[in-house]
Amino acid sequence: MGFPENFLWGGATAANQSEGAYNLDNRGLANVDLLPVGEDRRAVVMGEKKMFHFLDDYFYPAKNAIDMYHQYKEDIALLGELGFKTYRMSIAWTRIFPKGDEKEPNEAGLEYYEKVFKECRKYGIEPLVTISHFDCPMHLVEKYGSWRNRKMIDFFENLCKVVFTRYKGLVKYWLVFNEINMVLHAPFMAAGLYVGDLDEKEKEKVKYQAAHHELVANALATKIAHEVDPENQVGCMLGAGKHYPYSCNPDDVLVSQLRDREDYFFSDVQARGEYPSYMIKKFEREGIQIDFEKEDLELLKNNTVDFISFSYYMSRVGTANPEIAEQTTGNIFDSVKNPYLPSSEWGWQIDPLGMRIMLIELYDRYQKPLFVVENGLGANDIPDSDGNINDDYRINYLSDHIKAMKDAIDLDGVPVMGYTMWSCIDIVSAGSGEMKKRYGLIYVDRDNLGNGTLKRSKKKSFDWYKKVIESNGENL
Ligand code: BG6
Repeated sequence: MGFPENFLWGGATAANQSEGAYNLDNRGLANVDLLPVGEDRRAVVMGEKKMFHFLDDYFYPAKNAIDMYHQYKEDIALLGELGFKTYRMSIAWTRIFPKGDEKEPNEAGLEYYEKVFKECRKYGIEPLVTISHFDCPMHLVEKYGSWRNRKMIDFFENLCKVVFTRYKGLVKYWLVFNEINMVLHAPFMAAGLYVGDLDEKEKEKVKYQAAHHELVANALATKIAHEVDPENQVGCMLGAGKHYPYSCNPDDVLVSQLRDREDYFFSDVQARGEYPSYMIKKFEREGIQIDFEKEDLELLKNNTVDFISFSYYMSRVGTANPEIAEQTTGNIFDSVKNPYLPSSEWGWQIDPLGMRIMLIELYDRYQKPLFVVENGLGANDIPDSDGNINDDYRINYLSDHIKAMKDAIDLDGVPVMGYTMWSCIDIVSAGSGEMKKRYGLIYVDRDNLGNGTLKRSKKKSFDWYKKVIESNGENL
């Protein structure tokens, strides 16, 4: 009973939120570099405000982030000390193909990640690598309009071939697109799509066309991964969190079910290999014409993912009643507030049982192994007078969620491969761009505007999580 022996315990980060060094060793500019901190960030993230170049009046936190590019050895040593079995990280496309459409890769970028993966292996840590964690070369955005253009599939295929070949034997677990469903909710941050000049109908079309290209690219990546090394295991990655009906009024139930389908559409295609009938009906009804090539359907059918991974921070609420208007913020998009749940300082609703509900639902739907690749609490950690961070709130959050995951394994029979909490070290927040929204077990001395020594120190949760891993989830 409890967690399986080979359970992959670890933590996660993303390149653009941690590496910095945005212009070193031939790295090209990416969409994710151009997300400023402050009130305009949301409009840029949503693709409503065009920001294709750095502007003087803004601060761009990803430029230097926490400088993991230079400090990766010290940081991975800390992950080794935590006893990590796996470390989820992403590669920056622009380090390997600075512009995105070159034929030959940038050797400096390839070498960099090779060193990082070898460093992980030194500590017995299995890398779990996201190929695209929201990032896309700006050259591809400007020249081709990013994922709305079918040519992106070829450029991405090239990236995948290079990466799978070069890291054969070093990396076995891959996620192709982080939170692939976020192309609908945060089109510029998640997929390099600027849509500010389109009407609502055109926006929908562009987003679904881009989604289709990403889904085809995902299938192609899965195919290549398996061809290059049959040991490779490829997962989809869904930004998850169920919509609960606000009441048992069937109208609320239906609204919630339909909202969930907007997300499941992606994993339905990736896990089952075909477009679900409800999406085809939606396209027909709303006159959304998606360009499919003949070979797409076969490619999707024959190259489904090996496992289902997802991020889980919160559940959401759906209602058909326009009078129920109280909203709360959430991961990328807002939701109706759930009166039964507490919230984080950023308004995200805390719902450990929702994690078990999510695991049950995803397993019932796909019958494939599941992997929780993001889960954590963003909080404004304040060091005490001795400089210590006693983050009991984070320990409670993680512990409650891990217990819920354990129940899903023990009581519901759900096969879970691993758990990588977000984020093992403090990094820049994707949604807000703030540093003070901290998720780490390791504190990084840096503020929202980039001031600070970048010194790393362990929080109370560091020792706690170390014991969780040592006891294989028994000591919570
Ligand atoms: C997920 C992303 O949406 O949530 C991460 O994959 C992100 O990149 C995480 O950091 C937490 O969100 P935020 O906005 O608090 O950083």
